[in-house]
Amino acid sequence: MKIFATYNIKGGVGKTATAVNIGYLAARDGYRTLLWDLDPQGAASFLFRVKPRVKGGGKALIQGRRPLDGAIKGTDFDNLDLLPADFTYRNLDLLLDEAKRPERRLASLLAPLKSDYDLVVLDCPPSISLLSESVLHAADLLLVPLIPTTLSVRTLDQLTDFVGEFNGHRPGVLAFFSMIDRRKRLHTQIAQDLPAQRSDFATSAIPALSVVEQMSVRRAPVAVFAPRSQAAVQYASLWREAREQSGLRAPR
Ligand SMILES: Nc1ncnc2c1ncn2[C@@H]1O[C@H](COP(=O)(O)OP(=O)(O)OP(=O)(O)O)[C@@H](O)[C@H]1O
Ligand SMILES: [Mg+2]
Repeated sequence: MKIFATYNIKGGVGKTATAVNIGYLAARDGYRTLLWDLDPQGAASFLFRVKPRVKGGGKALIQGRRPLDGAIKGTDFDNLDLLPADFTYRNLDLLLDEAKRPERRLASLLAPLKSDYDLVVLDCPPSISLLSESVLHAADLLLVPLIPTTLSVRTLDQLTDFVGEFNGHRPGVLAFFSMIDRRKRLHTQIAQDLPAQRSDFATSAIPALSVVEQMSVRRAPVAVFAPRSQAAVQYASLWREAREQSGLRAPR
């Protein structure tokens, strides 16, 4: 079982869109996939038409009183399950703070699911917190969406430095440009130059397109309702890169 996490300290950069599309594509390729919507806003749960509710809330999960598999829901898609968001997730930081070794907590909660899933995708809220630290420690690969600006690249360097200081398990980092606006010269320039110069950048990049926004109207991944769009093509390409970089083996 591999764990991917979509992560960026910044909000509104395409984390959820990426988690939903990558999760769907993995499941379509036959990987038994679980998406955990860790954001109390519940956007990923909404997109998969699942009620953002967990019995006993985040507290029962984090304290281990309720095993994760009891809270997992099916989606409309084969091989794809969802661990929904819950509004109490806004307190996950406090709950983690009370736990032993909080930075290892998510990894140990997910460990029993090893034989049930090939891939877990964690969709994180935008922050740098105890929760995100626990996510960074659990993940094998971080998918980091970036708006093409110089400042967002700086944020990526800060993240890479932070992760580089971890003892033991360190997640791989796969950054990619999200919401590239072809009309902006700086966007196209940065999106062209950086992936060629740096090994932590994906060659795939997601254009800013209204089909991605339409996901929230259609409540489905782009590949379902706009399979030929550039967004669908680029998410598929990003999924291939992530699969290869993480060393995820072919599904049984
Ligand atoms: N490539 C894209 N083109 C156009 N719109 C996009 C694209 N990616 C995401 N969006 C839109 O931008 C908004 C934010 O995207 P998303 O929810 O995926 O970001 P996020 O990083 O998860 O945000 P948050 O930090 O609030 O969780 C959404 O309305 C989404 O539909
Ligand atoms: Mg989100």
